[in-house]
Amino acid sequence: KPLHRIAVIAGDGIGQEVMPEGIRVMEAAASKFDIGLQFDRFDFASCAYYEQHGKMLPDDWKSRIGSHDAIYFGAVGWPEKVPDHISLWGSLLLFRREFDQYVNVRPAKLMPGVTAPVVRRDGSPRQPGEIDMVIVRENTEGEYSSIGGRMFPGTEREIVVQETVMSRIGVDRVLRYAFEVARSRPKKHLTSATKSNGIAITMPYWDERVAEMAKSYPDVTVDKFHIDILTAHFVQRPDFFDVVVGSNLFGDILSDLGPACTGTIGIAPSANLNPDRSHPSLFEPVHGSAPDIAGKGIANPIGQIWCGAMMLDHLGYREAHDAVMLAIEAVLRSGSAEVRTPDLGGKGTTREVGLAICQALQR
Ligand code: NAI
Ligand code: MG
Repeated sequence: KPLHRIAVIAGDGIGQEVMPEGIRVMEAAASKFDIGLQFDRFDFASCAYYEQHGKMLPDDWKSRIGSHDAIYFGAVGWPEKVPDHISLWGSLLLFRREFDQYVNVRPAKLMPGVTAPVVRRDGSPRQPGEIDMVIVRENTEGEYSSIGGRMFPGTEREIVVQETVMSRIGVDRVLRYAFEVARSRPKKHLTSATKSNGIAITMPYWDERVAEMAKSYPDVTVDKFHIDILTAHFVQRPDFFDVVVGSNLFGDILSDLGPACTGTIGIAPSANLNPDRSHPSLFEPVHGSAPDIAGKGIANPIGQIWCGAMMLDHLGYREAHDAVMLAIEAVLRSGSAEVRTPDLGGKGTTREVGLAICQALQR
């Protein structure tokens, strides 16, 4: 059987606490489905490493993790010690760019045993599975460009410009990925986020490329909404959506809003993908290092475990992915306070939840 080498970077704060549970479940899945996984742990991309070395990464970081099959990432950031723009831009954001992880994927699914903060029109609660969408964000260009600058700084003539960049290659490759995901799902429904009424050059271009790509996917239902009303629809009728694709900025906003509509940030997963597989893809929970609860052993490990399931899927093990998801759902459904962390109203620890998911997986 092939051996997949995974670069493990736990990072800071609760990253150090949820990662062992993620690995515990990955190892259980590997033994159940006879998958060859090798975990190589790295201490860089953390503020502790920064304090010791004066930088977030060693100079040869690219060769040390660049040939791995995937990067399993915890969280980075400890604002008391290192400013966030240094810790994030010096690590995670470099990985995304240098490894050309041009798609960011975030599933937003209402899980059993979790109360959604958004309710139905009649005020009744949303049921598990009723919200089940995947947000696909362009991750390398768009509004987040470094083209621009400041002129006459500090004077009354001060001018600041930052240009949006959309390339045909960049737009088409993320759209193709989103259409493929839509095609693979039962609803086969793709929604595009736009703002062609206000951003009158790049957004009509985005819309044009969506229409062009749609021709190759006649089996996928396509619609589009302006980003402003789209955010309202996410809250008022999240059940309508299946796959939602957006530019870097719109995708960023939607990929926080979607998971927020389905409950706690502690369970939300994220993947930064290089679908070409010329570089490793990176799998991480949506949450950060949570300094406010770090060291207490009560962080919810489900976000870390869920993104691990996405990693298994990416490596070609769909069955193992589905099994891990069923195990997560079984533990959440049980409703027992011992196997829920405090963010879900329970009194369980990070480790107890990890162990419970392993047991459910082995059953
Ligand atoms: P955060 O996600 O770390 O925490 C926000 C709130 O959610 C906190 O109250 C925290 O206790 C809670 N929370 C987060 N994850 C949880 C979990 N697994 N279980 C239970 N509760 C959880 O965001 P915050 O506080 O804005 O950022 C803290 C640090 O993390 C900063 O340095 C920030 O830059 C960094 N960060 C890193 C990210 C990454 O590595 N991808 C993403 C977001 C923030
Ligand atoms: Mg964001």
